[in-house]
Amino acid sequence: MPESQQSKGLSRRDFLKTSAVASATAAVAALGAPALINSQTLQDPVIYGFIGAGRQGNFHLKKLSVNRMGRCAVICDIYPPNLEQGVKTIGSNPDKELQDYRRVLDRKDIEAVFIVTPYHLHVPMVLDALSAGKHVFVEKVMMKEEDQIPRVYEAAQAHPNQVLQVGLQRRYSAIYNVAIQMVHNGALGKVQFIRAQWHRNGSWKNPIKDPAFDRILNWRLYREYSGGLMAELGSHQVDVADWAYQSEPISVMGVGGLDYWKDDRDIYDNVSVIFEYSEGRKFVFTSICNNASLDFSETIMGDEGTIEITLGLNSAKATFYPEQKAPDAPTNLVKTANVQEQNWWAGATVKNRGRKIGVPILPNAPSKNPSFIEKEIMYARKWLTEMGVLEVEKDRDAIAVEEEHFFHCIREGKKPISNIDIGAADSRSVIFANRAMDMKQKVFWPGKAEVPASSSEPKKV
Ligand SMILES: NC(=O)c1ccc[n+]([C@@H]2O[C@H](COP(=O)([O-])OP(=O)(O)OC[C@H]3O[C@@H](n4cnc5c(N)ncnc54)[C@H](O)[C@@H]3O)[C@@H](O)[C@H]2O)c1
Repeated sequence: MPESQQSKGLSRRDFLKTSAVASATAAVAALGAPALINSQTLQDPVIYGFIGAGRQGNFHLKKLSVNRMGRCAVICDIYPPNLEQGVKTIGSNPDKELQDYRRVLDRKDIEAVFIVTPYHLHVPMVLDALSAGKHVFVEKVMMKEEDQIPRVYEAAQAHPNQVLQVGLQRRYSAIYNVAIQMVHNGALGKVQFIRAQWHRNGSWKNPIKDPAFDRILNWRLYREYSGGLMAELGSHQVDVADWAYQSEPISVMGVGGLDYWKDDRDIYDNVSVIFEYSEGRKFVFTSICNNASLDFSETIMGDEGTIEITLGLNSAKATFYPEQKAPDAPTNLVKTANVQEQNWWAGATVKNRGRKIGVPILPNAPSKNPSFIEKEIMYARKWLTEMGVLEVEKDRDAIAVEEEHFFHCIREGKKPISNIDIGAADSRSVIFANRAMDMKQKVFWPGKAEVPASSSEPKKV
């Protein structure tokens, strides 16, 4: 092993761990992106309408403008400048609808709709679209009120041949898929703690020329339309925790405050939430609006290693940090008699046990049983990337992949990866976390209140 690498504390085993445990090929094949653009889909593009051409709408439309698996026939937005911008972005001269999205749903030529409107409109539009016979892509968060969840299930069950997909795009990122497989395959050891933060420094207020549109375009700041930071930002990250832990939480507690931006908004601008999963596993989410130094990422921590992961504007990046245990570290601080002394010792050697240099996780890890040559190539690529000789390879854009997946599911009659179950679980976490903050009380998932708070409470000695 090169000396420079040894001095950075990385072992060959650490490098191989990040590749050998993850069979990304299977995960990425399930996403099925480029291979889908076959002659059938080119001859038979999905004809869709697009509702809500704001910021995220235009982000989608830009990706859709080069996607030949679908064709945009009409864009609907009630704010004229956004409608015009959307038409310009897609570039294929679709019809315009400024008045009422139901006119889009009435059209017989429309097979599918994208719903990229404010949160409070998601469920009414989803229900109308399903009953009009359309396939539906709806942006996160799917449901805003708890009683909407069974209503959407009922509608989806009444229309089993229509695709219903929710826009949680991390599920479509190859790097996230590799990272989560590493978690599930044990590369991090026992994972009991996930932390995520989404920190910003800004008011979140759009400057509006026409005051009549203020609440329509600054909808995020008002509870009537919005779920605040937990919905807009935390929803992505609690979905990652659910995915890593392979379950929903059992309870949530939190503190929210409107502490910095003293204008007419009524959502919190300072949020700290703790979700509890079975076996004492935790997910901690914080979000603030007056300091962006920590930016946004998810950190998954096990007793063998840590993954820090984030999805940027066009690609994801993730790093694996093998856990450094001091050679004679006490294995069970709680059970030993001289607890105090050993805790002091652990503090004194904290440098040894802290985080070391990380290994980049790449999107195209080899197959489940990589050959010797594949392992060697992976090892060389990771080493060169770590040394700064190679650039970290880019993930495919997850939003483009989720759009392709939507069209694929429509044409192939498949259930989407980011489906109603994932959307409903994500919605419950958002709704219950906001309730916990509002009521200043711990909120339990239905039927979970009797579960002991934590099975991992230390035994008294
Ligand atoms: N997946 C992601 O990473 C991501 C990122 C940003 C936003 N989003 C989601 O996308 C959705 C839209 O967010 P945004 O940032 O684009 O908001 P935005 O305010 O920029 O855009 C919303 C658009 O909907 C239009 N609209 C409002 N009411 C309408 C109606 N009745 N009919 C038709 N159009 C209507 C508005 O005029 C506006 O153009 C939200 O649900 C948000 O959470 C997802």
